[in-house]
Amino acid sequence: MNVPNHIAIILDGNGRWAKAKGMPRSYGHVKGCANLETICDDMKELGVKYLTVYAFSTENWKRSREEVEGLMKLFRNYLKKCIKISEKNKMRVKIIGDVTAFDDDIQQKIAELEEFSKDYTELHFQIALNYGSRDEIVRGMRRMARDASEGRISPEDIDENTIGNYLDTVGIPDPDFLIRTSGEQRLSNFLLWQMAYTEFYFTDVAWPDFHKAELIKAIEKYNERDRRYGGVKEE
Ligand code: FPP
Repeated sequence: MNVPNHIAIILDGNGRWAKAKGMPRSYGHVKGCANLETICDDMKELGVKYLTVYAFSTENWKRSREEVEGLMKLFRNYLKKCIKISEKNKMRVKIIGDVTAFDDDIQQKIAELEEFSKDYTELHFQIALNYGSRDEIVRGMRRMARDASEGRISPEDIDENTIGNYLDTVGIPDPDFLIRTSGEQRLSNFLLWQMAYTEFYFTDVAWPDFHKAELIKAIEKYNERDRRYGGVKEE
């Protein structure tokens, strides 16, 4: 089985999964978070080098105050715990998105985790928090315009690589494979620039139930695809 170098996942369906069990949405997020830990182990075991997950979008602030507060609590705990996980898996962790919107202590935890894990290379794990692809492009283009107006780059030199260098994902290869759980079939503003040639896979399985067997099933589907842009099937 050929394993994609970079897998991106839209973690969807925690709320519906919990509701179906007669439980509050927050229970779904807790289980979704636990599943994220296991899936990192599975990715490493399968030999995936890059994993990027969409955990909190720029739109997610519009959810109820209770739900947002619950997610912030979960992020706090997870970011702390993730130091141990990164050590165990030799995993480099990077947060993409506009982290300045988070409370100072969360920003501090993010900085600590990124610094602690910066030399690990077994698995590169990107967590998208307060992420929106259009917002990422706006932030990047503002910096690029500033660099141009201050003479650090000239408009003639701007190419696709230059643009990639101004995005949060700088240095990370584009995803080969996108998985979205829980039935929805849209991108929801996730890695729009980076996924120009990515293969998409949608499953009805909710994120808390997306375990290793489901991951393998998805990768098997990926292997059936005819990838003309440098994927699994060489021409
Ligand atoms: C989508 O399910 C999920 C989220 C908005 C949050 C994702 C969070 C986690 C998986 C856990 C925490 C992650 C980290 C990095 C600690 P939904 O609530 O939109 O489900 P629904 O579509 O059924 O309502």
